[in-house]
Amino acid sequence: MKIDTTCVHGVKDKANLTGAVTVPIYQSSTFAHPGVDQSTGYSYSRLQNPTKEVLENIVAELENGTDALGFSTGMAAVSTLMELFKPGDHIIATDDLYGGSIRLFNNISKKNGLKFDYINTSDIPTVKNKITKETKAIFIETPTNPMMRITDIAAVKDIIKGTDILLIVDNTFLTPYFQQPFSLGADIVVHSGTKYLGGHNDTLAGFLVTSNSEIAERLRFIHKTTGACLAPFDSFLIIRGIKTLAIRMEKAQENAAAIAGWLLKQEKVTAVHYAGLETHPDYAVSKKQATGFGAMISFEVDSEQTAHQILEGVKLIMFAESLGGVETLITYPMLQTHADVPQEDREARGINERLLRISVGIENINDLINDLNQALA
Ligand SMILES: Cc1ncc(COP(=O)(O)O)c(C=O)c1O
Repeated sequence: MKIDTTCVHGVKDKANLTGAVTVPIYQSSTFAHPGVDQSTGYSYSRLQNPTKEVLENIVAELENGTDALGFSTGMAAVSTLMELFKPGDHIIATDDLYGGSIRLFNNISKKNGLKFDYINTSDIPTVKNKITKETKAIFIETPTNPMMRITDIAAVKDIIKGTDILLIVDNTFLTPYFQQPFSLGADIVVHSGTKYLGGHNDTLAGFLVTSNSEIAERLRFIHKTTGACLAPFDSFLIIRGIKTLAIRMEKAQENAAAIAGWLLKQEKVTAVHYAGLETHPDYAVSKKQATGFGAMISFEVDSEQTAHQILEGVKLIMFAESLGGVETLITYPMLQTHADVPQEDREARGINERLLRISVGIENINDLINDLNQALA
């Protein structure tokens, strides 16, 4: 079955006795047992819920993993993941990560004794040089957020082959529709399901996907113990969102390519960061490891004043955080997604008062360009 068909038909609800075409919302916190030592397979929804289970099976199938766990948010998924590690463990992370992941690592994981090095993981020799005896994981986001750099996943895997270092990939931006990290050597895939998987800016969700049964078992234990599980109704919304993942990704990407090309021609735009541009420093790696470039763009303008003018001038496009929904959103990373990243780290990475990020949606491209045009005028 091809991925666009899996998105629609997914994995069937094994408890379905009615022929319902969509997965029911099993809005039950607990499940009655037929007798002592007998079970329907469910006991309590923190351990597992039938709607969430169907969704987890779909996500595992889409990612070509063996198990997936549904969390209440993407950050709940990343926090749970950090529980795999113990004080003294060292994690190498992409320097241009989502700001919330950096906030978690710097303020909570470090307090728990984990050590982090943030580096440009697009630079493979630098990754190699940072590995120590304590290194237990390499956490990458590709494309990065918000500068859209690409890490060569297979090249990172090559340098840690034969070690117990886990390769973790946040696949939120490209989704399994465009990028399959397990086929490139990842051990764990992370998602903010809030974004493209859900696709409608109407719910929050997160996932951890694995292809390793021992890790899956450890994560399931932490998941049921710490309890940030995805609720049945939210699971239903993500299942529904995934049905249109393929066509949304294609349409949003087509719009993003057109907007990136248009931005390049604007006098007040001084740089455009989109992996689909042939001038992008990681274009070749992106083309090699993914089947698409996605629909996230960041760009720099000539002044802070122009940046504010665009944010306040857009009429159709909304000035809001988040990404991956059908609506086009524009974000000011410095004040929103990356506000808690230390200022000097932010500036070193180019996240300044002139940088804007667009999550391109599925509207008509002429309406989007007309809106940007009037805001920039
Ligand atoms: C790449 C990436 N990973 C993880 C997260 C965290 O997800 P959530 O907002 O669902 O907690 C985000 C949120 O923006 C993100 O962009």
